[in-house]
Amino acid sequence: MQTPRLEIRNLVRRFEGKRVVDDVSLTIQPGHVTCLLGPSGCGKSTTLRMIAGVDMQDEGTIHVDGDLVCDTVFRIPPERRAIGLMFQDFALFPHLSVGENVAFGLKGTRARKRARAEELLGRVGLTHFIDEFPHQLSGGEQQRVALARALAPRPKIMLMDEPFSGLDNRLRDDIRDDTLSLLKEEGASVLLVTHEPEEAMRMADEIALMRDGRIVQRGAPYNIYNAPKDKAAVAFFSDINVITGTVRGALTDTPFGQFLAPGHPDGQEVEIVFRPQHVGIDFDRDGAAPLPTARAGAPARGLVERARFMGSESLVEFRMDHNGEVLRATVPNVFLPKPGTPMWLTVRRDRCFVFPLIRDQPGAESGR
Ligand SMILES: Nc1ncnc2c1ncn2[C@@H]1O[C@H](COP(=O)(O)OP(=O)(O)OP(=O)(O)O)[C@@H](O)[C@H]1O
Ligand SMILES: [Mg+2]
Repeated sequence: MQTPRLEIRNLVRRFEGKRVVDDVSLTIQPGHVTCLLGPSGCGKSTTLRMIAGVDMQDEGTIHVDGDLVCDTVFRIPPERRAIGLMFQDFALFPHLSVGENVAFGLKGTRARKRARAEELLGRVGLTHFIDEFPHQLSGGEQQRVALARALAPRPKIMLMDEPFSGLDNRLRDDIRDDTLSLLKEEGASVLLVTHEPEEAMRMADEIALMRDGRIVQRGAPYNIYNAPKDKAAVAFFSDINVITGTVRGALTDTPFGQFLAPGHPDGQEVEIVFRPQHVGIDFDRDGAAPLPTARAGAPARGLVERARFMGSESLVEFRMDHNGEVLRATVPNVFLPKPGTPMWLTVRRDRCFVFPLIRDQPGAESGR
């Protein structure tokens, strides 16, 4: 197997006795983009700071291209790690021109440094700003200069900590895409920290989902989205609906018919978790339920509580007849039924996840 560009093993960082980073291991192959995704305070920036070398781990090792960069006694200083950094407040040097900012970390003759700065500014479409100063640029332009500056010394690894969070939404999508193509062209391995699932889905070859100092799941965006490890992993990417039931003979009876619950013992309480886009809806025709199908199971009835237009889809909330709880469905385009309208809901069997019910452990992982 290929030697990973970056390999961190069993990293631990304690602050005031708390393991803020708790046994984190991760590898990144050359040219790959990994997103460290997780809620605020879960230890993402702390992990990045240890890799950058601006903070030191209490336990664990960091290797780059198979060479030890840092353990608990040996430590290569940050400037010799061939690591590029881009943080949320990517401050440019205000007294240096754009070209000098980009050339800042470079060695060699003036002419060669200027040539590399020109090359990178060309790649981010800002050559004409080379002799301007940072305050003459917009936020998005400054962000591109910061990216050019970080990439100029040809780092093996780019560490990016929420680099797009200061930008407005529309600009952000464009800059994310441009940044990704430039990172790929330069061949840098990237570890990008974000708490936004859309950003991770858009940028990552692989997502590492982090919670409470630990990596709880790793995989391609498609796999994490479609085979989440627990309820919190489903909920991190979208709104969720939850119904509960008890397993009998690897099946769970619910108002929506039976759900398969393979591997769960008899008597086990389970949560069946599904996203609003996998709820089917049908109009009520004189109280008669539509026929059950293998794919969608049995329909259960609810009354429209609220319907909102969200742009590309509508979100409809239903109060269910069987237990008075609310379930959500999304429907493409405009669909705004009046509150009180009776409708039949079904749940896509191939798109729901069955997890053991864990009481009183918000955010807790199952199976640990
Ligand atoms: N130098 C420090 N001293 C004490 N506690 C710290 C220190 N740095 C971080 N922490 C704590 O460690 C935890 C993780 O912080 P970290 O900055 O890594 O979170 P994060 O995942 O990057 O969150 P966010 O998405 O909000 O940036 C937090 O509870 C934070 O308060
Ligand atoms: Mg952070």
